[in-house]
Amino acid sequence: MGRSLESEANSLTVRDNRTGKTFNIPIVDNTISATAFKAIAAPRKEGEREENETEKGLRVADKGFLNTAVIQSQITYIDGDAGVLRYRGYPIEQLALHSSHLETSYLLIYGHLPSREQYKVFESEIMHHSIVHADAEGFFRSFRYDAHPMAILTSAFSYLGSYYSEANPSLQGQTLFTKGDHNSLANMDKQIFRLIGKATTLAAMAYRIRQGRDFVTPPTGLSYTGSFLYQMDHLGQENYRPSPVLERALDVLFLLHADHELNASCTTVLQTGSSLVDPYSAIAAGCASLYGPLHGGANEAVIRMLISIGSPENVPAFLESVKRREKVLSGFGHRVYKTSDPRSFIIRKTADEVFKVTGKDELLDTAMALHDAAIKDEFFVKRKLAPNVDFWSGLIYRAMGFPLDFFPVLFAVPRVVGWLAHWRQMMLQSGGVKIWRPRQVYVGAGKRDFVPIEERKPVEGPKQAPTPVMHSGITKRTAMAEFKGKTKL
Ligand code: ACO
Repeated sequence: MGRSLESEANSLTVRDNRTGKTFNIPIVDNTISATAFKAIAAPRKEGEREENETEKGLRVADKGFLNTAVIQSQITYIDGDAGVLRYRGYPIEQLALHSSHLETSYLLIYGHLPSREQYKVFESEIMHHSIVHADAEGFFRSFRYDAHPMAILTSAFSYLGSYYSEANPSLQGQTLFTKGDHNSLANMDKQIFRLIGKATTLAAMAYRIRQGRDFVTPPTGLSYTGSFLYQMDHLGQENYRPSPVLERALDVLFLLHADHELNASCTTVLQTGSSLVDPYSAIAAGCASLYGPLHGGANEAVIRMLISIGSPENVPAFLESVKRREKVLSGFGHRVYKTSDPRSFIIRKTADEVFKVTGKDELLDTAMALHDAAIKDEFFVKRKLAPNVDFWSGLIYRAMGFPLDFFPVLFAVPRVVGWLAHWRQMMLQSGGVKIWRPRQVYVGAGKRDFVPIEERKPVEGPKQAPTPVMHSGITKRTAMAEFKGKTKL
């Protein structure tokens, strides 16, 4: 095929019925460019809102990014219909069986499995960067005793960034991480080592502050997850070592959670990073996004749901309430997977290993009954709602004795790796970084003139004016105790 015929075959022909014009839009990598639609403009029809900006070309609407590709990536591939997940081409099942979280981290960030020597250097850098400044203790102690650990961790990443002015493009110049020369790459990698190395330390500190325990210095000679468990659980015993079974189980869970391409939190990291802010702020933003119950908070939500169901015989009634839209079946459904999440099978196996050490979780029977009923139920089958990674992971964390609100932290710590892999890739992509600035469809008021306050008619109604709030600070006792007479002085 000649060049022009070939390019015509790889294109989309669009006819604008408003103007009769035809447009050829190239298809590259099975993708069409949204900006190509800007050329498809038409005169504004009589009576049409000027805010539609019809004469400036078509916009592409995609609420919730259902079918919009925002970046080219070489990191993770998911086929949601076939239940396939690959990191840099390697199937997740092979990595879970043969690799470790840190080796997989190297793979995700640098694109290939490391040689023994490369791995040794990487591991030593990460572990070397696990210690935080002594002042960090004061930061952790400033939280209230019942602060959610995700609130602590999110703030901690941002706090951490305040120590490293050399990693801040606002202070050092915009091209700090985009230059791609030796110094820029070395600076970038140092921040990556710090963020991965200190993620476990910050998370363990968030854990210990909630338990009322003093902090411990990260140990030497343990694996990444071994060191994390040590930092949470060591209470002064001599030669303390975490259980190797639990250490390996957590390592597998970390590896499975390390990346999942452009999920909400990774997108948040890239969106935030696209303003060229420092990586600590971008990671803090990702952490905040992960915390939501539709994303990384789902593992916590699953356990709360199982507790509320109580026992297997209550499962049918619970599922009916889900179908009546009164409840959500947490741990089921996924934007990308329309079949079982491949990670859920590996997690299920890991759970059995953990239960051999910890004993079976009392919620397991309810979880099994719920799982078995839901996967056969027409409501879920029709909507292709299958168990996701969070359905089982919470049960393992619970069996390992972690408090419920710590579960999202156990997701965030390994996901730091994926966020950083994507952030690094974006910083180094050819053509530089473009700020992520989506468009909106404005459907609000047209132009109107200011009305002086005396002439305004009050607008009332729910959502249109502030809803009256209860002032919880003023109790009956404080109201009674307040002196309302005149003070004689
Ligand atoms: N329980 C009940 N109904 C559900 C569920 C669920 N868990 N998930 C989706 N549905 C229904 C929706 O109501 C919708 O029904 P409709 O077509 O009749 O209106 C249909 O299935 C399609 O669902 P969407 O909401 O369009 O799917 P979307 O891709 O936007 O959402 C999400 C995906 C957020 C994960 C959703 O499935 C959900 O809320 N699941 C529960 C929370 C959860 O487990 N999150 C973890 C995700 S994995 C992760 O972050 C690691």
